[in-house]
Amino acid sequence: MRALVLAAGAGTRMKSALPKALHEVNGRTMLEHALRAVRAAGVREIYVVVGHRRELVEERFAGEDVRWIVQREQLGTGHAVVQARRELAGYRGALLVVMGDACLLPGKLLRRLVKHQVASNAKCTVLSAFAANPHGYGRIVRDDVGLVRRIVEERDATKAQKGIREINTGNYVFACPDVFAALEALRRDNQQGEYLLTDVVDYFARRGDGVECLVAPSFEDVMAANTREELATLARVMNARTLSRLMAEGVTIVSPETTFIHDTVRVGRDTIVQPFTVITGRVEIGKNCRIGPFAHIRDGSHLSDETAVGNFVEVKRSRMGPGTASRHIAYLGDARIGAKVNIGAGTITANFDGERKQVTRIGDNARIGAGTILIAPVRVGAGGRTGAGAVVPKKHHVGSGETVVGIPARRLTSKRG
Ligand code: UD1
Ligand code: CA
Repeated sequence: MRALVLAAGAGTRMKSALPKALHEVNGRTMLEHALRAVRAAGVREIYVVVGHRRELVEERFAGEDVRWIVQREQLGTGHAVVQARRELAGYRGALLVVMGDACLLPGKLLRRLVKHQVASNAKCTVLSAFAANPHGYGRIVRDDVGLVRRIVEERDATKAQKGIREINTGNYVFACPDVFAALEALRRDNQQGEYLLTDVVDYFARRGDGVECLVAPSFEDVMAANTREELATLARVMNARTLSRLMAEGVTIVSPETTFIHDTVRVGRDTIVQPFTVITGRVEIGKNCRIGPFAHIRDGSHLSDETAVGNFVEVKRSRMGPGTASRHIAYLGDARIGAKVNIGAGTITANFDGERKQVTRIGDNARIGAGTILIAPVRVGAGGRTGAGAVVPKKHHVGSGETVVGIPARRLTSKRG
């Protein structure tokens, strides 16, 4: 089983300097979403057609286990598949073709599509879906007995055809090498002047070769994005799915409408996420935590059980031990914070020394006073304290149980409460 992902297009409708494949939806590029779906379907041999600004795409996916196929001129989806001919010479079997701009495809659905093709022994199996608003998609044209005859693009469709709600999702399984013979017959006699992969369906149907069609159970699963507005729609659906999963796992999300969480985030039971919270990248949050409102937790953060991250607190690539709290207005970046630490309002870990990121370590039970600036690299020992407004210079470590105050912070010798 092999797969071909089409990602050579410029994505003109995105009005972007970036190739469409590199636009992100919830923390992953569109191409990464497509590749994940193909892998989840169990396909190991993956070819990706690239063209427009392909150096950017190949660089982003360096080290990825895929074979690149170059389409120098983007003359249409049919032309894109033709470029794979040499790589696939001698291959006899099913070829899964997936559009690089479909981000929500479940691997299971693609696997069903492949099974359908293999079981029916057809030359081609199309994945279709019913859309409430089919605008912009190719329409599936069936004959009197319901067999798929062809696919018409929006621009080539008659008024009656525009009324068809069954759309082409752009994902197919083709028989190799037959599909290449069909592609050879393609002409550019359409509104776009392109070689349309969809015309392969017409070719097979005319010859009486089997054209099969699997109808996807949900339009959401097959949505693609050509415009920024559609990109936002994909993001909204994906976010809603992540929030649903978290809620099913025992997390309270007070306001799903205003909460944005990437699917790379894990959250323990009975944690409560208050409104206007954004959690991105690889993040782990434990049980019984209090997050938000207005919290921003970023990639590489690990929050243990019973931590609190409150309003206007940004946490990036930091660890917080159990029972630690930062409830108001703070920036914690590259910090390793122990258990039961209190981070006062307005605390900042100054983690960037102008050249690289430096680490701040704070031991168990430390008390960081309001408005403290910790200039990394710096350590505060277990039970250490800083006074309100203290500025702790780099490497001026605060010993265990010590208290420092002022600017620059100096050690307090007389014990105060
Ligand atoms: C395509 C289908 C349409 C379907 C829709 C589903 C065709 C002719 N039309 O339309 O029936 O409803 O997808 O989303 O196939 N690409 C290349 N090289 C090219 C052109 C495109 O690699 O020369 C890639 C693009 O990068 C993209 C994918 O193919 O990932 C689809 O191209 P796009 O222009 O988005 O096709 P649609 O107009 O959406
Ligand atoms: Ca598209």
